[in-house]
Amino acid sequence: MANVAVIGTQWGDEGKGKIVDLYAEKADVVARFQGGNNAGHTLVVKGRKTILHLIPSGILHNGKTCIIGNGVVFDPFVFLEELEELKRGDLLPPDTKLRISEKAHLIMPYHRRIDQAREARSSGKKIGTTGRGIGPAYEDKAARTGIRVGDLYEENLFREKLRQALEEKNFLLANFFHEKPLDEEEIAAQYLACAEKIKPYVADTSLILDREARQGRKILFEGAQGSHLDVDHGTYPYVTSSNTVAANASSGSGVGPHLLDRVVGICKAYTTRVGEGPFPTELKDEIGDHLQKVGQEFGATTGRKRRCGWLDMVLIRQAVRVSGISALAITKLDVLTGLDKVKICVGYKTAEAEHTHALPSSNAKLAACEPVFEEFDGWKEDISHAREIAELPANTRKYLKRLEELADARIILVSVGPGREETIVLEDPFLNKNL
Ligand code: GDP
Ligand code: IMO
Ligand code: MG
Repeated sequence: MANVAVIGTQWGDEGKGKIVDLYAEKADVVARFQGGNNAGHTLVVKGRKTILHLIPSGILHNGKTCIIGNGVVFDPFVFLEELEELKRGDLLPPDTKLRISEKAHLIMPYHRRIDQAREARSSGKKIGTTGRGIGPAYEDKAARTGIRVGDLYEENLFREKLRQALEEKNFLLANFFHEKPLDEEEIAAQYLACAEKIKPYVADTSLILDREARQGRKILFEGAQGSHLDVDHGTYPYVTSSNTVAANASSGSGVGPHLLDRVVGICKAYTTRVGEGPFPTELKDEIGDHLQKVGQEFGATTGRKRRCGWLDMVLIRQAVRVSGISALAITKLDVLTGLDKVKICVGYKTAEAEHTHALPSSNAKLAACEPVFEEFDGWKEDISHAREIAELPANTRKYLKRLEELADARIILVSVGPGREETIVLEDPFLNKNL
């Protein structure tokens, strides 16, 4: 029995939530290891939709341990709200454990304010962030001025860190962004009150994961965002502020890399992106509208319309390489139904070179790239009821076959609708030693 990491291969929103929920059935522990409530992971079970931003997508299954790892930036108010909503909807199973790393960094009100103020100010140079304070929280972590969840339980230390942070942040807010400064006492009172509420969940989660692993339990690592939003390997600066690639499942949760047995890449059958940044296969025509409308491509966190385009295998190959992905789960294949022709981008051309396995790291060079497409005949049949590959139309199978060849990774799952059951399962990543 293996541990599995689920990683987005594109620019996020590949359908990681659906697949993690599905795989959680087989796992004992589900751990988030990076990002924060910039994520929006959608689960549809018996027609009912749940969107999770911070709580791991294994939460709907009873008897699991769900972990928010040290690598996550943690907004305690969002966490409590999400927990309340699950309770209100009667969705929180009785025997599920939820644990938050005491080492996770807190998102503070000044992180959100600075994130939003920067975006408002930088006309023409926006990143298009989610405005949740993610970037500024990671900045403070790297600057060693961050406040960690565990600090909430040493009141004097917490107050001193907050005072020091506000000295700098209020100067920035008032003098650079020309905004109102924040009140220290108000923040301290809010966070200290919140600390009591989250206390039962706070733990050394690295120790918990170690204990579970030693007992032979299976861990499912839940990536947020996608490979091309990775702060090192993505389309910098149009990225998020954490490492989204599989290796961070280890440092972001406090386990050794030997525990990452398999990496499953989640790959949408086309490409989407929210926010700014390069997007070589973007479609600004009626086909783009088809993908956006039929795929219901609205951000699960901000509600923004997602930009849409053809599947881009340069993205997928790079993601496969950088994260060591051996298996792919293809999602939203049903959204392509009805198109006369479907295309796959197999590489980019510029006057000087061809790029098939990596995106040029210079955005200027990337902007000069022309995508090279292979075209396939589409299919009109409704595929959402298919539960076996053989039930798919021949043209759909051709599309998948070519995708698999180009990706250099095996397709082990095909998703044909948002519901948990709308899935063709080919191989089990927890059991299959050959992946
Ligand atoms: P995540 O961030 O990777 O978890 O993905 P999101 O939840 O942000 O976006 C994926 C969207 O597609 C959600 O609304 C899902 O319910 C939906 N979805 C997932 N798989 C499928 C699929 O195979 N077909 C269709 N039509 N929708 C899907
Ligand atoms: P999930 O986990 C899609 C994008 C934002 C913006 C950039 C930086 O649901 O796939 P940030 O707020 O992180 O500083 O924004 O990253 N972004 C996402 N796009 N899915 C996500 O998460 C994202 N999280 C951040 O739109 O372009
Ligand atoms: Mg999402």
